[in-house]
Amino acid sequence: MSFEKILVLDFGGQYNQLIARRVRDENVYAEIKTFETPLEEIKAAGYKGIIFTGGPNSVYDMSSPHYSKEILDLGIPVLGICYGAQLMAWMCDGKVESCINSEYGKIEIENTKRESLLFKGVDTKSVVWMSHTDYISKAPEGFEITSHSADCPCASMENEGRKLYAVQFHPEVTHTQFGKAFLHNFLFEVCACKGDWVMDDFIERTVAQLKEQIGDKKVVLGLSGGVDSSVAAGLLSRAVGKQLTCVFVDQGLMRKDEGDFVEKTFTSLFDMNFVRVNCGAQFIEKLRGITDPEQKRKTIGSEFYKVFWDEIRKQADGGFFAQGTIYPDRIESGKGDAATIKTHHNQVKMPEDITFDGVIEPLGELFKDEVRRVGEKLGIPKELVWRQPFPGPGLGVRIIGEITEEKIKVLQEADAVFRDEIKKSGIEDTLSQFFAVLPDVQTVGVMGDHRTYDHLIAIRAVTTDDFMTADWAKIPYDVLARVSNRLTNEVEHVNRVVYDITSKPPGTVEWE
Ligand code: XMP
Repeated sequence: MSFEKILVLDFGGQYNQLIARRVRDENVYAEIKTFETPLEEIKAAGYKGIIFTGGPNSVYDMSSPHYSKEILDLGIPVLGICYGAQLMAWMCDGKVESCINSEYGKIEIENTKRESLLFKGVDTKSVVWMSHTDYISKAPEGFEITSHSADCPCASMENEGRKLYAVQFHPEVTHTQFGKAFLHNFLFEVCACKGDWVMDDFIERTVAQLKEQIGDKKVVLGLSGGVDSSVAAGLLSRAVGKQLTCVFVDQGLMRKDEGDFVEKTFTSLFDMNFVRVNCGAQFIEKLRGITDPEQKRKTIGSEFYKVFWDEIRKQADGGFFAQGTIYPDRIESGKGDAATIKTHHNQVKMPEDITFDGVIEPLGELFKDEVRRVGEKLGIPKELVWRQPFPGPGLGVRIIGEITEEKIKVLQEADAVFRDEIKKSGIEDTLSQFFAVLPDVQTVGVMGDHRTYDHLIAIRAVTTDDFMTADWAKIPYDVLARVSNRLTNEVEHVNRVVYDITSKPPGTVEWE
């Protein structure tokens, strides 16, 4: 079964992935390709529409990314965004110049062609997000200007006959009041898409493809308990059942009971072979005496892969190796080279002596939010599908100083109490990530008539869109009070609690 496709032609803008995600939110498949993609390839792919992305350059600088004019004559509708709009103007012999007043932020535009397909359902005056220092000073022949702002005579233009549309603003960001409508109109009014990218179809299609590709061979998947590998496991299980073996390495640095939860979920809900390798004791041994954060990370990482590949080696018997790689892992956005395969920070090269017939990445075309939707449809529990980010080295980065069995236990208990209290307080959905940290500090306290000298627990909760920057969460005092009470009462060896009120930057989310 084939489905409609939109090409997001990447000219190096920072919002390229966001454009593709917004298109997919409209149930239309979008893929990102570099501006260096040959015209023949684009012609052959049968796209319903093309979107030129933004980019940081000036079109009149010939070293910046350009494209052959013929792309505008394929009969495929094109929408140019920001730099992409200027590029379209430049390609059609309009005029692009540097602004006297560059526009940045929320700007009001006025639509001057009410019957424009792109402006269907959009108010005459509306707010858009602008970020540009060049502007279209003269629309090309055959184009009509459809909106302007106070400083920008051409905020959008179109050549309806040739199905060429250009917007100086960014419809993909939420600050643009009718952003969703602009993209919807381009897809459905201009490109005549039907909207056939739906997750039910994706599951059916992928399961059928996997069945055909795998045949009666075996598949081995490394399961981390994270969202991506869990959903990949769910899909593969549905396709080939017991031909699938999932290898789950529990290095003893997961949250309280998490290893058991992962095992129970996959052995009870899905048909597969499940291999759990418990190597906590071996990790503690390797980590003995190590206090340097980088050294701890390295030790945990190299030990993990040693155990992991040893187990995979045992399981490898021809067949396929599967992994939960998702679309953003495979593209490097913002550089105009979206097709470059990125080495994911969590992926390590397979040792040469292990051989498989091939690698399977069933989620390779999906964004994270789509992976979650598939996970929900497959019946994977909410705790896994909506799991917060969890560092590869696990609690290892949340215990400062040497990692010991006792410290892991204290931190696991404290973290479980904190999570339970946040859940009960009803504020869980307002937080992006929250956890407990063991800073390896002991302080004096009193318990009854006794002096104590015990652990300090730090609690951390942040709100963020992308984890590049983050705010410390303003958890209500009464919730903090209950957390503090419970931690000191219920968790042995904890006699003091502090709340981390550092944003990122200058702090990071994790303490390390
Ligand atoms: P920082 O501490 O750098 O963390 O502000 C940003 C986000 O990344 C997560 N994190 C990791 N995720 N492997 C991962 O998959 C890692 O080694 C790792 N270290 C940090 C962190 O939890 C936060 O969400």
